[in-house]
Amino acid sequence: MEFNVKAGHPEKQRTHCLVTGVFETRQLSTSTEQLDTASGGYLSTILANGDLDGKSGTSLLIPKPPKLSCDRVLLIGCGREQILEDKEFRDIVKKAFKAVLETAATNLVFCLTEVSVKNRDIRWKIRHAVEIALDSLYVFDHYKTKKNKDLKTLRQITFMLASRRDIQTAERAISEGQAIANAMAFAKDLGNQPPNVCTPIYLGKQAEKIAAAFPAVNAAVLNEKEIASLKMGSFLSVAQGSKNPPRLITLEYRGRKDKQKPIVLVGKGITFDTGGNSLKTAVGMIGMKYDMCGAATVLAVLRAAAALELPLNIVGIVPAAENMPGNTATRPEDIVTSMSGLTIEILNTDAEGRLVLCDALTYAERFDPEAVIDIATLTGACIMTFSSHVSALLSNHDPLANDLYQAGQTSLDKCWQLPLWDEYQDALNSPYADIANIGTPSEAGTILGACFLSRFTKKYHWAHLDVAGTAARSGGKDRAATGRPVHLLIQYLLDRCQKSS
Ligand code: BES
Ligand code: MN
Ligand code: ZN
Repeated sequence: MEFNVKAGHPEKQRTHCLVTGVFETRQLSTSTEQLDTASGGYLSTILANGDLDGKSGTSLLIPKPPKLSCDRVLLIGCGREQILEDKEFRDIVKKAFKAVLETAATNLVFCLTEVSVKNRDIRWKIRHAVEIALDSLYVFDHYKTKKNKDLKTLRQITFMLASRRDIQTAERAISEGQAIANAMAFAKDLGNQPPNVCTPIYLGKQAEKIAAAFPAVNAAVLNEKEIASLKMGSFLSVAQGSKNPPRLITLEYRGRKDKQKPIVLVGKGITFDTGGNSLKTAVGMIGMKYDMCGAATVLAVLRAAAALELPLNIVGIVPAAENMPGNTATRPEDIVTSMSGLTIEILNTDAEGRLVLCDALTYAERFDPEAVIDIATLTGACIMTFSSHVSALLSNHDPLANDLYQAGQTSLDKCWQLPLWDEYQDALNSPYADIANIGTPSEAGTILGACFLSRFTKKYHWAHLDVAGTAARSGGKDRAATGRPVHLLIQYLLDRCQKSS
């Protein structure tokens, strides 16, 4: 897909489709007004029929409007207020692209970014519109022998600007939107791959591919032996039941020449979670191929940072393993020694995410991080709390938590902080080891998962994103990876660039 910007007159654009706004009740946006005048009042005549009054997200297609150079005008309802909320803007733009895709248009001129959005500038509007456009074309039909032929292709989108002054900003916003959308598609592809394909070895190869594509990125993929020599007894205990061996994947992106401390991203990479010997039910296991979505997010974000040449140093760490039951798998009540030296009594082999993450978090120390953020589909309890709308955020450093919260608000890939207070820590006591891998009592599972991880993150600023509900829709026929929280993290990094420049 090709994106352009143009400052000029909408009525003069030669295009398959002009996409432009109408407010309630039949108030024309600036561009729509210009088009209406140029067409001799044709648009307002049609609107007077009452087919579109401007309700948010509705649309009306007008073929062959007289005296205009376009083949169609697609009028989009933009609601009652002249200033939109950011989420409403996104919803409207989504509906607009959906409506365009029902036509035969393969190029379009987009005028909706002229609509005011509360607290958001042109950069935000274009970035989101690009992301939504590309996302609306996403399909994962790799394993379908008959591809859906009805899929329309959109080849070119031109953003109409009110002023030439915005051209540079708009072009940068397009690159950002493309990088975000491509990264989300990359993360979705990895998540959607079946677990017999997307194994720890496969994830390692993906990391190596990224390093090969970007000179500023280096990859290191460690095998079982090398992981053992790092003394990652906790991580290895999760992998030992599977014939697919684990991998410890590290990606390093150097966007700066100086020795600026890196942001370290750690992603849970369980390529399938059966629960191990604490076996899940048949129903509970469906969707567990998505248990590597944290890992996919980390790889995708590193790739996007490199594509955007962000002036930051970033490290991605992915402990990748498959959690299987069987006679070589860990049992409940096994005790293992983590890389940090802390011993862990495994009371439930289904609480495996924290067991792979704790060693990766200890490993993160060697990069002398500015901050460490882990991303994990860690707890079912997170879905009970937030459904699929919001990621859980827990942190040992409030400024970091606030930055992530803000990035969530800007990207609309939202997160909300839960407390990581001492009251909860005692539930993890074990009579035999330094710590148990599940809580007794077990309530507040998302907080307990984070409490466990917090024992391994004392040496740096750290935040944990539990994305169990947001990274994928795991039930029903529309099961799919969502590409979250890729947008949130890229926004966080973009904000950091602005701060440090
Ligand atoms: N991968 C799951 C969490 C999960 C569940 C993600 C459902 C997405 C949808 C995780 O490894 C797990 O099994 N967690 C257990 C922890 C419990 C045993 C303390 C859970 O949430 O039940
Ligand atoms: Mn599990
Ligand atoms: Zn899991």
